[in-house]
Order: sequence, then structure tokens, then C-alpha cells
Amino acid sequence: MTVREIFETMEYGSAPEAAGDALAWIVDQGSRFGHFIDGAFGAPGDTFETRNPATGEVLAEITQGSSADVDRAVKAARAAQPGWQDLGGPGRARFLYALARLVQKHARLFAVLESLDSGKPIREARDIDVPLVARHFYYHAGLAQLFETERPGRAPWGVCGQVVPWNFPLLMLAWKIAPALAAGNTVVLKPAEWTSLTALLFADICRQAGLPDGVVNIVTGDGATGAALVEADVDKVAFTGSTEVGRRIREATAGRGIGLTLELGGKSPYIVFEDADLDSAVEGLVDAIWFNGGQVCCAGSRLLVQEGVAETFHDRLRARMDKLRLGDPLDKSIDMGAIVDPVQRDRIAALVDANDEGETHVAACDVPEGCFYPPTLVTGLGPAARLMQEEIFGPVLVSTTFRTPAEAVALANDTRYGLAASLWSENVNTCLDIAPKLAAGVVWVNGANMFDAAAGFGGVRESGFGREGGPEGLSAYLRPAHAGAPLARVAPFDGETAEPEAVDRTAKLYIGGKQARPDGGYARAVHDAGGRLMGQAPIANRKDVRNAVEAARGASGWAGASAHNRAQVIYYMAENLAARRDELAARLDRMTGTGDGAAEVDAAVDRLFHWGAWADKFAGEARAVPIRGMALALREPVGVIGALCPDATPLLGLVSVMAPAIAMGNRTVLVVSEPFPLVAADLVQVLETSDLPGGVVNLLTGAHAELAPVLATHLDVDAVWSFSSSDLSAEIESGAASNLKRTWVNDRRDRDWHGAAGADPAFLEHATEVKTVWIPYGA
Ligand code: NAI
Repeated sequence: MTVREIFETMEYGSAPEAAGDALAWIVDQGSRFGHFIDGAFGAPGDTFETRNPATGEVLAEITQGSSADVDRAVKAARAAQPGWQDLGGPGRARFLYALARLVQKHARLFAVLESLDSGKPIREARDIDVPLVARHFYYHAGLAQLFETERPGRAPWGVCGQVVPWNFPLLMLAWKIAPALAAGNTVVLKPAEWTSLTALLFADICRQAGLPDGVVNIVTGDGATGAALVEADVDKVAFTGSTEVGRRIREATAGRGIGLTLELGGKSPYIVFEDADLDSAVEGLVDAIWFNGGQVCCAGSRLLVQEGVAETFHDRLRARMDKLRLGDPLDKSIDMGAIVDPVQRDRIAALVDANDEGETHVAACDVPEGCFYPPTLVTGLGPAARLMQEEIFGPVLVSTTFRTPAEAVALANDTRYGLAASLWSENVNTCLDIAPKLAAGVVWVNGANMFDAAAGFGGVRESGFGREGGPEGLSAYLRPAHAGAPLARVAPFDGETAEPEAVDRTAKLYIGGKQARPDGGYARAVHDAGGRLMGQAPIANRKDVRNAVEAARGASGWAGASAHNRAQVIYYMAENLAARRDELAARLDRMTGTGDGAAEVDAAVDRLFHWGAWADKFAGEARAVPIRGMALALREPVGVIGALCPDATPLLGLVSVMAPAIAMGNRTVLVVSEPFPLVAADLVQVLETSDLPGGVVNLLTGAHAELAPVLATHLDVDAVWSFSSSDLSAEIESGAASNLKRTWVNDRRDRDWHGAAGADPAFLEHATEVKTVWIPYGA
């Protein structure tokens, strides 16, 4: 094209990036790759081809990892772990820093290789993926540096098995490996089968950095290799990928006492209010849905636009779509590259072709032959339409309209996912009013797809759990340094004689602020340490759990109560408990036979003051991100928490679990101590006189083993905790796969509720989710 022609058409021609160095690197490695285990590349085994999706050309052959390969890698990681941990935070920080520098030094090679292997535009790999990778290693070098001072009492899990997808192969690797290493873990990572090359180049970089052998291991292969890694002797699994596979991994790891974080799919709303800067919002959408061809878990794939501006907005959007350029991913001037693989292209096409609702606009741009899919907009869909609900994971935007902000919120939350959301309005009040109402782990105000290592990323609902990035991301790679004693079953006392109390006290369940008889009408006799009958404790069943969950759901106002208010209620409980000290101490002495009743009541009072004090001191913080804005890491309540309370120290245990949960704004369904259930009746007296709204705390008594699976599989429960002396972790964690609720089980360890572990700061983390809200600030 001549300069004259350029001026006539104002079109820009192609500006291809050279692929020579990246292709030469592949050839230098022999074009056939084995795994990277214990600091060295092994010989290739059974291999499969990895292709450039834009051309279909074979780039290299990759080894399909077997279970034996996985086991070898896990053994290498296990052997390397103590040495790596013993380096200490500053020692590990030097290596993370060296990795960051090496990523920067080889930035071009990484970017071109990524673009070749995945089909993403070189512009994105070069300007977004690779700089974010380097930033991630720098940030985590900092977290490692400060590890000893900032994370007392925390230790790495040990060996982490990590499985990453194909949409951001190198970036997801960095999100997994950097925090794991910073915390002192070693890793075995499996890249996605379509995009393994940058992980293998990264392995090469690890060698250059002099990383000790076995600290990072890369095993390639498909889903079967991933499944083998999940089954292997690892201490923590971290996964990014589809919700379907995430659910399978939840089941496969259940009851093993290992850590798990899942970053899964999304169907993120992109909400345009009528007072938005519409042109900016159109441009934002280009980033939201056509970035990486829409193959982004947090893509703004569901457009919700206010009715008054819908027509003009859609017109401008179609005009903009028609100007998008599809083409060779290595061309620096294209907007969208290839779809990662023909399988994914066909999946997208099948979903769109099956739709017969609304109006479909396909961008009028040239679509090259091969593995490409044009930008597509489907307007006028009903909220229940399949395309509105299912993740398409391609350049397809679906749209519907709303009238009022309340309707926008209802539509936005009408999904099983909860990953991200974008809000567009020139009135920041509108955005800041809506942001807290969205079920999403990340909210962008007048923006989309912004990421940074300092800002946590991750979802709620079926988008998974755990965060990547920020201090909360590091927490996911840590466990308590000193575990408690092994779990010891606490059994109830037996008794023969039925010695009636002077005045019969019939214990009841406590549901929705009222004492309730159990649905089944059954109760069991409870004896004291001397074998005398103390009373009858109701036996709750499935229906009682459902009633309690419904009451807890209904008490949603508690989450909106001010933290000051919640603190006042908890202090009031402490006062009321203290006022009944002697009576309660005597009851506890009879109940447990330990003679510690008075100390237990005193500790429970203290614990209430402790968590009451925290109620207004754990709201979150601002994060320094390198844009003209800031990311607010806000601590939101998890929602409805079902918890199995400790069996020993029945009052202190119950209070220790309840208080942090409600202090943070959660509603609770608490199954009290199984051997000493009558404590519930005592606590009810306190709750009823403490201004606690009905439904915030619901108390059930009964068999932990029977009630745990009911809570774990209940779709309206957001988290299940267990401190029972029965090991119920397998039932709870596998049941939780239903709606991917959060779980916190005592991994076969008991806590000393009188000691510091009883007031573990981890309660605050488990009682909250981080919502990262990106706001313009100082722009
Ligand atoms: P996938 O979830 O099957 O693959 C992701 C990773 O998991 C790959 O490394 C794969 O080898 C591995 N894997 C597969 N089965 C496994 C198992 N049973 N155990 C352990 N690891 C396993 O995703 P796929 O099939 O590539 O894409 C299907 C759909 O998933 C996409 O259309 C998209 O909707 C969604 N997806 C979401 C991603 C996200 O970032 N949230 C990323 C990739 C896909």
C-alpha cells in the first residue's frame, strides 16, 4: 500500500510481528517436548500435536502425561519443598524477582509464542498478558519478602497441583505459580493441552533463574493428566477452567484434608444506564467481550442496557462491530485473532446456531478462512434464554433491556454464576449504589477487564471460590502452622434413671427467632456426667434444616445493618450471658462433667466481646493498582453459613463459631454440640433478650452426621463449616459440589477453643468474600 493510497482510504495495512525467534526456540528444543520434572526436561513420551489455530500448522509435539509421570513430578516437588520453605521469605523473594526480570527480558519471545499457540492477537499478548505476568512475579516477590512479618502462624500447604486453561496460558500459570512459591509451596502444574508452549518456555526460564530443582514442575497432557494430578498425593489443588470440571474436582478432593480453590466460568453482566457516556460504553464493550475473542471467564458477555437508550446504543454498537478487524493473530493491527481450536469454534457455532430467539447481528467484517468466528450480537433475548444463561466463551454478546436500576440488579443476578460485572453511568452514585447489590467477585465502574496482581480476582456462586492476587490470594496457599490435636470423638453420657426435673424444661429448636418443635416430633434423652436425666433434646430433620435456612435467607437485612449495630447486638449478648454466669456455669458443669463451667462462660463472654470488637474493623482496604483509579477490596458477608459446632466446650464452641459469622453480617444455621445439645436452650435465653433480629441465628440439635449432608447439599446455603468431633469432611465437601458452596472443615483436627485458635483470625476470612470494586479515582 502506498502512502497516497493510505491517505485516500485512511485504512491501515497489516503490521505483522516476526515469528522467527519463537519458531527457532521450538526447533532448538527439538520440536518435541517431554515434561519438566526436577529441574530437567525428560525425553518425550507418547505425544500429541499442538497447532497454530490461525493456520492449522503443527507447531510442536507435546507429551501426554501418565499417572506415573504425575507421581514422579509430585515426588520431586515433595522432596524440594522443605528446602524451598526453609529459604525463608526473603530468600524466595530473590527467585521470584529473578523470574519477573527474566519474563521481562524474554517478553517478546513469550508474547509471540503465546500468540502462535493460542491464536490471541499479539497486541494483547504483548501489552496485557506478558506485562501482567511480570507484574505478578514482582508483586509476589514482595509478598514473599514480607512473609515472616505479615503471616505469623501460617505455613505453606506443601505440594500444590495446579491445572490451568487455554485462554490465558501464561498468565494463568503466573497467577498459580507466583503465590504458591511466595508462600513456600512447590508446584506441579499442568497446562491446557491446546496451549502448553509458554509453560514449557517458562520451565526454561526457571532453569535460567537457578530455581532449585523440583520447585516448579510442568507435566503436559489432557484432562486425564489433570485428573491424575488431582488424584495424586498433593496438599492443595488450584484449578481454573469450566464449572463442570471444577465440580468434578470438588468431588475428587472431598474429605482428603487438602486445600482447594476453583476459578470457574461466568456470564458477567455489562450494565449500561441511560446516563452513561454511550461511546465510552461501546468502546468498553469491545474490551469486555471481544478481548481474546470472548474466551475470557469474566467477559462482559451479557449486555443489559436501559430501555431509553437501547436503540441508539445497539446501533452504535453494530456500527463499531462492523469495523472490528479479524485476522492473523501476529498482525499488530487486528482486533481479534483466531479461536483457540476448531473444537471450541464448533462449540460456539453450535450454541449460536441452536438459538431461534431475538435478532442476530454478525459483524460485517472480513472473516478469514479457518478457525475464526465473527463478532456477533444477539439482541432481544428473554432472561431465561439459553444464550442468556450459558457461558458461550466466544465473541458472542447477548443483550436485553431494563427499565429501572432495581430491574437491572435483578437481571444481573439472574444467573448461577457470579464472577464479574461492569457498570456504566456518568453518575458515580448510581454505580456505587448498584455495586454492593451485585453477586460478583469483581465489579468494574466505567471500565472492563482490568486486572492487577494487587487486586484479588475470583467469583461467588458457581464461578468458584478463592481469590487470585492480593493478600487474599496468598492466603489460599497457606494453612495454620500448628494444627491442633487429632480429632477425638466426644460421646454423650449414658444414663438409666429417669429422674424428672422439678420443673420440666422442654428444649426446642430455635428457628426464625422463635422456639419451634422439631418437625419429626422426636427427642432424645440427655444425661449428665453422673448419668442423671437432664432433659430431652429435639432431633432436627431435613425439614427443620430447610425451615432454618429459609428463616436465615429471610433475615437478609442483617447484612445491611451497620457494623456498629451488629457490634452492639453482640456486646449486648455478652452482657446477658455474663448476667447468667453462675446458673450457666452450674448447668455446664452438670452437662460436661469437666468442672470448667465458670471458666467456659467467662471465655464465651470474652469471645463475644472479641468478635463484637471486630465487627466494624474488617471492612476491607484500598489497593494500589497501576492505573488512574483504585481497586477496593471490600469484605462482604458470605451469606447463609451452616455450621456444625464443636462437641466439647459446648457453649464456648457455639459462641466462637456464631459470633464471627454474625459480626461480619452473615446469617447462620448452627447445629449445636451433639453430645451436649441442651446448651442451645440456654443460649436461646440470651439471644431472645439481645435485640438480635429473628433468623440471624438459628439453632438446631440432632445428629451431626445426618444434618451435615443436608446443609452441604442445600442450594440456599452459601458455606458450610464443621468443627464437629465427627469427621464429616468427605460428606460436606462432596455435597458442596452441588452449588460449589464454600466449605471450611476441621481437616481431622481439633481446636483448643479456650486458646488462641478459638479466636483464629481465619474466622474473619471465612466469614467474608472479597469483592474487588475498581473505581476511577484521580483520573
Ligand atoms: P476444561 O475445564 O475441560 O479445561 C481446563 C483445564 O482442565 C485443561 O487444562 C484441561 O486439560 C483440564 N481438565 C479437563 N478435565 C479435567 C479433569 N477431569 N480433572 C482435572 N483437569 C481437567 O475446559 P475446556 O473443555 O477446555 O472448555 C470447555 C468450556 O469451559 C469452555 O467453552 C468454557 O465455557 C469453559 N472454560 C472456562 C475457563 C475459565 O477461565 N473459566 C477456561 C477454559 C474453559
